[in-house]
Amino acid sequence: MIPPSSPLDSRRDRRGAVLVFDHRDRAVRAIATEIAALIRERARTGHACVLGLATGSTPRGLYAELVRLHREEALSFANVTTFNLDEYYPLAPTHALSYRSYMHAELFAHVDLDPARTHLPSGTVAEADVVAHCADYEAKIRAAGGIDLQILGLGGNGHIGFNEPGSSRDSCTRMVTLAPGTRGAAAADWGDTTPPRYALTMGVRTILDARRIVLLAWGEGKADMVSAAVEGAVTAQVPASFLQEHPQAQFVLDAAAASALTRPSAGSGEPSG
Ligand code: GLP
Repeated sequence: MIPPSSPLDSRRDRRGAVLVFDHRDRAVRAIATEIAALIRERARTGHACVLGLATGSTPRGLYAELVRLHREEALSFANVTTFNLDEYYPLAPTHALSYRSYMHAELFAHVDLDPARTHLPSGTVAEADVVAHCADYEAKIRAAGGIDLQILGLGGNGHIGFNEPGSSRDSCTRMVTLAPGTRGAAAADWGDTTPPRYALTMGVRTILDARRIVLLAWGEGKADMVSAAVEGAVTAQVPASFLQEHPQAQFVLDAAAASALTRPSAGSGEPSG
């Protein structure tokens, strides 16, 4: 077990907040600890904790650590409500590659989360009902009191959720067409079949409405896109760059994912905790 440690670099400046750890396991420990503290604090005061969740390879370790905290440190998810970012469309929730299946396998099946409090957009809603379904997803998030903490990964083209380049800052939950590169990246998982052409995803605005946002990125392969998102212009061409405008958004990175960043000049940053 790798003990928790201080990040290598911690700063918050006008380009957004960055937290760099020497190893992703340490980053995962730090974020899982934050989530556990939030859940427990809400439980102590009799409140629900609303988590926004992501899929992909990046957050797997985080879910494993949350499961460990449940098993070994009695972390209860009884007061937790979850909203996932996205789901392929059309796709049955029972399909092995649905994001519902992913969440079940990685987290939901292993903790005491009430299944009725876990939400993902539906990959089986009739096409004619997609707009109403997406509006209902937004309404459910609002009715739950909004998202306390949203976890994000980072797509190879800068997408967050399935908000591909070109997604507006004001976008809400909706059906989107997946970029060829996104489907290409998913192709390895899909083997002989092709990934769906469409998805339902929270919008950029839905994500930015979360009170706290943590974008996780590991490995050198993410370094250039991390640099564009953190230090480049805020632009719909790099949807993750919109996080720069959120006062409580943080890019939580391992050293490799941070390797293309320019360190802030002395005095330009302040600890971000
Ligand atoms: C998919 C998901 C995103 C995820 C991205 C990166 O496109 N919809 O939410 O962030 O993949 O995946 P990975 O974490 O495997 O690099």
